[in-house]
Amino acid sequence: KKQLQVGILGFGTVGSGVLSILKHHENKISQVTGEELNVKKVLVRNTEKNRGALSEGIELTTDAAAILEDPEIDIVIEVMGSIEIAKDYITQALRAGKHVVTANKDLIALHGNELVALAKEYHCDLYYEASVAGGIPILRTIVDSLASDNIQKVFGIVNGTTNFMLSEMTNKNKTYEEALKKAQDLGFAESDPTNDVDGIDAARKMVILTRLAFGMNVELDQIETRGIRNVKLADIEMAKRLGYRIKLIGSAVGMNDSSVHVDVGPVLVPENHPLAGVQNENNAVFVVGAAVGETMFYGPGAGALPTATSVVSDVITVAKNIGLGTTGNVFNSYQHETTITEDKA
Ligand code: NAP
Ligand code: HSE
Repeated sequence: KKQLQVGILGFGTVGSGVLSILKHHENKISQVTGEELNVKKVLVRNTEKNRGALSEGIELTTDAAAILEDPEIDIVIEVMGSIEIAKDYITQALRAGKHVVTANKDLIALHGNELVALAKEYHCDLYYEASVAGGIPILRTIVDSLASDNIQKVFGIVNGTTNFMLSEMTNKNKTYEEALKKAQDLGFAESDPTNDVDGIDAARKMVILTRLAFGMNVELDQIETRGIRNVKLADIEMAKRLGYRIKLIGSAVGMNDSSVHVDVGPVLVPENHPLAGVQNENNAVFVVGAAVGETMFYGPGAGALPTATSVVSDVITVAKNIGLGTTGNVFNSYQHETTITEDKA
């Protein structure tokens, strides 16, 4: 079997989950791909930290060039976060002919089209399933499994941190601050949790979902975005008494005039609606198609192993493509010549 060399950029919550899955599911991965995957180097900021999960034989480096300029490395997994630095590293990787898998929704929402074009130009794969809804395979579902349909709506819970916080506040009477601290300790929150609590993370995921589901590019400032910062325990209590749960919902709705309306905000969900029952860091995404009707996809939206499952599955797809000699693949969306509605209802 051929051995494919892998470089990982970042070894935090997701990076350590990726290594764990590559190690524990090694036999299955090699059977499915027909290749062996070897993690050669891992990039971090601080080499002094305790990296208990790191296996012997893997070089830890603070020098990105050691990975990006290593001609032996075939696949780069970007799980470090940030926008500009990650963009620079992924650009360098693609230009060097390396295939890329990333979990970085901030980057893909803002620069996804440019990176996709670059990947195609250099005949490299670029996949980012983990960037939306963690362990739920929602991007592949939209671009492959529902490719035959005209998607009319995509909506649901796409941020694990805020759903976790609302669950803690609703079920355990925890304060906003206590709930946020716990979500951070469990590794669900972004390095800047403002992005979670103010709905920005969810809005970026809606940009990606809208691009793939509707073939339309929506900019972040076209999305009316409200987070949960102002949701008080008293609001949650009152909603409960009236038979509702407060959930942070992202929604993209196709309009009759071939535009799409996208927004993110806290919504009163009737307690008997399936979204009301989505607890903790779980996510749930409804996709409504003209032909299929209403479908719902549910599962963990954040956390080390669920997110890493999506990352490693992308890596497996890349390894298969390398084996077949059919690289240069991305999550393809058709491009629809339509507009984003400016009407922020
Ligand atoms: P994290 O725990 O903060 O880990 C980040 C890792 O990247 C750390 O190992 C850090 O090094 C390294 N790093 C960051 N900036 C770097 C730089 N400039 N140079 C070198 N190394 C750098 O983050 P995470 O939660 O794993 O998230 C990683 C990515 O996955 C983000 O894009 C995030 O949005 C996305 N994501 C996360 C989740 C989740 O549940 N956490 C789910 C889906 C997607 P040190 O260890 O030395 O600090
Ligand atoms: N901070 C993100 C969330 C991680 O809580 O949903 C998963 O994208």
